[in-house]
Amino acid sequence: MTNLPKPGSLWRQDVEFPPMPALQGAVHVDVAIVGGGITGITAAYLLKQAGKRVAVIEAHRVGAGVTGETTAHISALLDTRYYNIESDFGKDGAKLAAQSQNEAIEQIAHIVRDLQIECDFTRVPVYLYTEQPQAVDEIKQEIEAARRAGLNAAYTEQIPLPFSTKGALWLPDQAQFHPLRYLFQVAAAIPGGGSHIFEHSRIQDIQDGSPCQVKTEEGSVTADTVIMATNVPPGLHVVDTEVAPYRSYVMALRTDDIIPEGLYWDTEDPYHYIRWANTGGERVLLVGGYDHKVGQNDDTESAYRALYEYAQRHFQVNAVVGRWSGQTYEPADSLAYIGLSPGAEHVYLATGYGGLGMTYSNVAARLLTDLIMGRPNPYADLYSPARIKPLASAVDFVRENVNVMKRFVGDRLSSEVDSFADIPTGEGRIVGSANAQIAAYRDESGELHMLSPVCPHMKCIVQWNSAEKSWDCPCHGGRFTPTGDWIEGPPAHNLTPVQVKSEQSDQS
Ligand SMILES: Cc1cc2nc3c(=O)[nH]c(=O)nc-3n(C[C@H](O)[C@H](O)[C@H](O)COP(=O)(O)OP(=O)(O)OC[C@H]3O[C@@H](n4cnc5c(N)ncnc54)[C@H](O)[C@@H]3O)c2cc1C
Ligand code: FES
Repeated sequence: MTNLPKPGSLWRQDVEFPPMPALQGAVHVDVAIVGGGITGITAAYLLKQAGKRVAVIEAHRVGAGVTGETTAHISALLDTRYYNIESDFGKDGAKLAAQSQNEAIEQIAHIVRDLQIECDFTRVPVYLYTEQPQAVDEIKQEIEAARRAGLNAAYTEQIPLPFSTKGALWLPDQAQFHPLRYLFQVAAAIPGGGSHIFEHSRIQDIQDGSPCQVKTEEGSVTADTVIMATNVPPGLHVVDTEVAPYRSYVMALRTDDIIPEGLYWDTEDPYHYIRWANTGGERVLLVGGYDHKVGQNDDTESAYRALYEYAQRHFQVNAVVGRWSGQTYEPADSLAYIGLSPGAEHVYLATGYGGLGMTYSNVAARLLTDLIMGRPNPYADLYSPARIKPLASAVDFVRENVNVMKRFVGDRLSSEVDSFADIPTGEGRIVGSANAQIAAYRDESGELHMLSPVCPHMKCIVQWNSAEKSWDCPCHGGRFTPTGDWIEGPPAHNLTPVQVKSEQSDQS
């Protein structure tokens, strides 16, 4: 394989957000919003417009989460098929879902217009296509279901891609944009008038109450209401068992192929997705896919290799100018969870968007704003985290949790290498077995960093991610730096450093 660039989102090279202060001391607002991604920032914007004082509290920097790693297809066609949504939530549920997604596209367009945001917001069609003749029926089934749900979908065999395809669902008037140009300009409207954005402020504790309190190491915010806009809620929540973490991979290509602007997805499982983007200083073709469960691929570089080979088979690849990956959470049934956190009175959550967080984040921001303002919202029941799981979802629910249990037990019995000496420079491995496992990372200078591999969230064993150089937890997607600092996901603490007897580490 050609030499690929170091992993890192190209969007982040294009635009910077001015630094915001860290939270220190005590602050009071109406609504505390944990997380400065597209969900938290959009909710903050709408709530401020509705007259609330808000504080966005972000662990890293605004846009540091998945919103900086997305491919930003903005579409009402969800990655769950509408015929599945129909079977899980009925025809009316599917109609409501489609309506909420359509409204989200219009609301994003509205915000772009209102704030005069320069983010390459462009209307484009979606093509859900297949290369397999046997998948055409599935596409036709989805067209019927999408049309019943109120979407203007049609069948076409005119698919403007430079390789052989068999048929597609075509849906006009969808959209794409530069996610961070959009995010940063919406975020710029938040500070002032009693509202704040705090960066480098990781929330470690959220207390429901009157008022609620959210705490970092150096400060706290009291508020009437809290929104956990953190991709997946921090800490222990019922919803942890209802969403499953996946990593998805993206490559930015230089190509001479002539492909009209559009959002292209295929019907493979996991699917490939394609769009043009102006990023990294040029127009590039973004090609994504090869999703796998977080911490459950022993060779994460293989996903990039597979994506590269896929790109080469389908396009004339002149160069790979960027690559990155990011994390999505798939819901146990077909739809996201947005609303009051089960068991809480004033703490809301939004998670389980799958690969469609651009529209879902907007649905969530409007829905949560309405709930907090005491206004009716037609989608409150549909997306409620407290919804009773329909029978169909029970199968996925059980499958995901059996998978978590297998990892919990199985990973305790196996090690990746027998001795520290087997760990190459710049890599990490699990050494030992049963209760004596160590997550060991050898840095570029050869020094070993040794950690307990036990994830502080629910005690699963982390796995080394060689492509992103991180420790990833297979159970709920907690991720840590090679030296154990938290990066993302529900764990509230870092991995614990451990001391190893000198005769063992001398083998290094
Ligand atoms: C490769 C890839 C491609 C994708 N493509 C698409 C696409 O084409 N279309 C689409 O619609 N969606 C897509 N998605 C999904 C979409 O990007 C996400 O669903 C969406 O960005 C989620 O936004 P968010 O604001 O909810 O989460 P995030 O952007 O992750 O924001 C959450 C923020 O919370 C912060 N945080 C977490 N814990 C704490 C804490 N304890 N204290 C303080 N802050 C905290 C994080 O640092 C982060 O900045 C894609 C995702 C991936 C990975
Ligand atoms: S993220 Fe839940 S156990 Fe690690």
